[in-house]
Amino acid sequence: MIKIGASILSADFGHLKEEIRKAEEAGVDFFHVDMMDGHFVPNISMGIGIAKYVKEITKLPVDVHLMVENVDLFINEFENMDYITFHIEAVKFPFRTINRIKSIGAEPIVALNPATPLDRIEYILGEVHAVLIMTVEPGFSGQKFIPIMTKKIEKLKNMIVENGYDTKIFVDGGINVETAPLAVKAGADVLIAASAIFGKGDVKTAVEKLKNSALKALNEK
Ligand code: DX5
Ligand code: ZN
Repeated sequence: MIKIGASILSADFGHLKEEIRKAEEAGVDFFHVDMMDGHFVPNISMGIGIAKYVKEITKLPVDVHLMVENVDLFINEFENMDYITFHIEAVKFPFRTINRIKSIGAEPIVALNPATPLDRIEYILGEVHAVLIMTVEPGFSGQKFIPIMTKKIEKLKNMIVENGYDTKIFVDGGINVETAPLAVKAGADVLIAASAIFGKGDVKTAVEKLKNSALKALNEK
């Protein structure tokens, strides 16, 4: 089964609660909150308060995607979160960061920027819930999927299978009805999307279309 994470970065912040409800009714599997600090990426998005608010108003799992330089500074703020996604490029001591995330009861996910090679995570692959492959440069929603990332997803899938791990593959960036099938065929388990879900008018239709495109690709595999 392919899961869909709704990134609220493209949601209408003036009506966040309604946007969350619509996405829940549309059948998304979890919410993805993009936190940026203006240093790790050239943008500032939402802070801790928004992530906590989302967690408060939904029963679905919440994933906090930390696009920040000082990851360890924020972990303790996210006690009730389900997933904490950190970037390998931002941490010096990944085992320590992973243990901190586990110690507050959340599942660690490691994210890689598009040009970061997979060997950076070879030794932590069995310690994380998932690897998030960035399929755009992080920082903004609405960017174009980088096609060569399908090779990276395939390679990662092989690494996981060869080692007998249960690690999942998340993809984030430029995921829509055209690119979701490519990511799924390459081995992605979870699709995260912002602009393909929010800001398109009807959230329900958008999620249905995305799910159907992913399921079709899965059946064709
Ligand atoms: C980018 C964020 C993504 C972003 C995806 O830095 O990590 O989660 O919201 O946006 P779309 O789906 O529009 O590419
Ligand atoms: Zn994200």
